[in-house]
Amino acid sequence: MKLKESKKILAKNAKLIPGGVASINRLTDPPLCFVKAKGSKLWDADGQKYLDYHAGFAPHILGFCDMDQEKAVVKCMAANQALFGSGATKDEGELARLFLKCIPYADKVQFTNTGSEATAQAIRVARSATGRDHIIVMQGGYNGQHNAVSANLMTDKKNLGGKAVKGDEYPLVPITAGIPKSEKKLIHPVEFNDLKAVEKMVVKHKIAALITEPVLQNIGIIKPAKGYLEGLRKLADKHGFLLIFDEVKTGFRASIGGYQKIVKVAPDLSTFGKAFANGYPIGAMAGKKEYLDLAISADPKKRVLIAGTYNCHPIPVAAAIACLKKLQDPKIGVYKVLEKLAKRLENGQVKLFKKYGIDVCIERVGSAHCVYFCKEVPTNWWEVLERHDFEFDKKYRLALIENGIYNFPLPCKQGSISFSHTEQDIEHTLKVVDKVLKKITFAEKV
Ligand SMILES: Cc1ncc(COP(=O)(O)O)c(C=O)c1O
Repeated sequence: MKLKESKKILAKNAKLIPGGVASINRLTDPPLCFVKAKGSKLWDADGQKYLDYHAGFAPHILGFCDMDQEKAVVKCMAANQALFGSGATKDEGELARLFLKCIPYADKVQFTNTGSEATAQAIRVARSATGRDHIIVMQGGYNGQHNAVSANLMTDKKNLGGKAVKGDEYPLVPITAGIPKSEKKLIHPVEFNDLKAVEKMVVKHKIAALITEPVLQNIGIIKPAKGYLEGLRKLADKHGFLLIFDEVKTGFRASIGGYQKIVKVAPDLSTFGKAFANGYPIGAMAGKKEYLDLAISADPKKRVLIAGTYNCHPIPVAAAIACLKKLQDPKIGVYKVLEKLAKRLENGQVKLFKKYGIDVCIERVGSAHCVYFCKEVPTNWWEVLERHDFEFDKKYRLALIENGIYNFPLPCKQGSISFSHTEQDIEHTLKVVDKVLKKITFAEKV
């Protein structure tokens, strides 16, 4: 694999930008810099082509540079629809209509620029609605880069106190410096799929909200146990905290109505981003009218400030409208195609891992998937730490990249299939997996 040009770009940028990248999560090993993307393919600065399963951290559900979306964006620019920054626009209303048609448990929606802004707003709304401050988060969940949630993602065993915690909270392990002590005291990380821990938190602290991805998709694919999300709903009702589903990753990917539609559990609020604009910068907070309307409460002590110069910028709005129209069109059938491709990849991988005698659990929700190298499916982060072969995963990902298949080079990172992937792409991937496994297993034997 050639890295000369990629390394050059990174080194040049690093003189001016700390780490050389605008989002620190993009700092990878190998340090690949990409210059072009179309459909299911990516091209790096050294001219190498990759079949992509990273999807830029999952937004690209239609694939890179979707033609219909690009036409809508160009049309918006040609019509001189700049950001007026004054008054309502017809298009933001149209976007809200298309959006709410999909999301089963939301009366209203408010748009932001990112998923992090959406989760920050949702937490603020929950605090205003309940008059409480404490927040429950999930060990292994990611809900954005702000103070209220930046903790306990891929935490190592030592920092977690060296043991699995059941029925109680984990030690807080921030993923950023700079969170004031007073704010740290308000964050309570618990293990996913542990209702007892949530019960304990509501007795110990004045909980405003529990925020969780309905499927943990920042540590692979960790599914909720049967009855878990329903259990959270019951606890929220009983103890008066708000249940926030962070559907920034699952929304418009697990299904057109997010994971809430699949599991039929109504959150009070849910947050979105990524797939609903196929890679353009826009986020959303949606939910019950009584909570969304706190933005216009007559009581200044309850009123939540929802504002942003770039909220509903016409370009991402045009892109999101085009994307939602395509996702909703039964004649196009995006989700059917995705399911077929994802199933084919899964079945093919199962056969190949079996052929080479490698224990795997392939977890998948629609087009989102992850291979854990272990015998038993993990149901929380601790079990991932205990069971998953991180070293093998890293080796496998690097070997795939060297052979032109781009999965993010970090163990446990979830992969995504787009509508632009083809059956040939999947067949090609399986051929490469075969080749790579043959090489790795042979190398391990000698
Ligand atoms: C589940 C989830 N919530 C929130 C966010 C934050 O979104 P953004 O990066 O757009 O701020 C992410 C980003 O990866 C995410 O995966």
